[in-house]
Amino acid sequence: MIFDEYSIKSLVRPIPDFPKAGVTFRDITPLYQSPRAMRMVADSLIQRYVESPITHIAAIDARGFLLGSVLAYELNKPLILVRKAGKLPADVISETYSSEYGDCVVEMHRDALKGGEQVLLLDDLIATGGTFLAAARLVKQLGGNVYEAGAIIDLPDLGGSRKMQDADIPTYTLCAFE
Ligand code: PRP
Ligand code: ADE
Repeated sequence: MIFDEYSIKSLVRPIPDFPKAGVTFRDITPLYQSPRAMRMVADSLIQRYVESPITHIAAIDARGFLLGSVLAYELNKPLILVRKAGKLPADVISETYSSEYGDCVVEMHRDALKGGEQVLLLDDLIATGGTFLAAARLVKQLGGNVYEAGAIIDLPDLGGSRKMQDADIPTYTLCAFE
């Protein structure tokens, strides 16, 4: 199936002032409700990474899990969960960050990586980049390397992709909303 950026973008719904005044929330639920669009998104990402040296996929709580599990299944790679604080049951490492609507902590199980892995970070969207950067720090704490951070949407005006570039973390998104 040929990737059609226009139809993908048309399935992302802007919701003004959610979850707080001044934030335009980019709602991807219509996209996830379209099997054709989901297939387009998944196929594009699978095609990008199928020949890559990635050894692990780290998916980000919660919307990133949806994409992460599809890719981990199709690429036959171990799936690591980057979760919001207090959800992972075993020994964890943590990183704090700020995003568009507040401060947050993400965690990863301490035994998720041994060191030397090539990790693909996956999420639905990059805004300020706080989440991806914190996830990258978790991977680095355990001795892994972030091969790339992949997402469906970039919101470049919020500066996240620029911060990722400054941190030398390659970033790949399928579309952007200026
Ligand atoms: C959203 C989105 C990314 C993050 C991007 O998650 O799914 O994970 O924000 O923002 P950033 O680039 O400014 O860090 P959210 O924290 O809303 O959690 P959710 O997936 O559980 O809804
Ligand atoms: N996460 C952070 N900022 C967001 C936005 N504007 N829309 C959807 N998810 C987000």
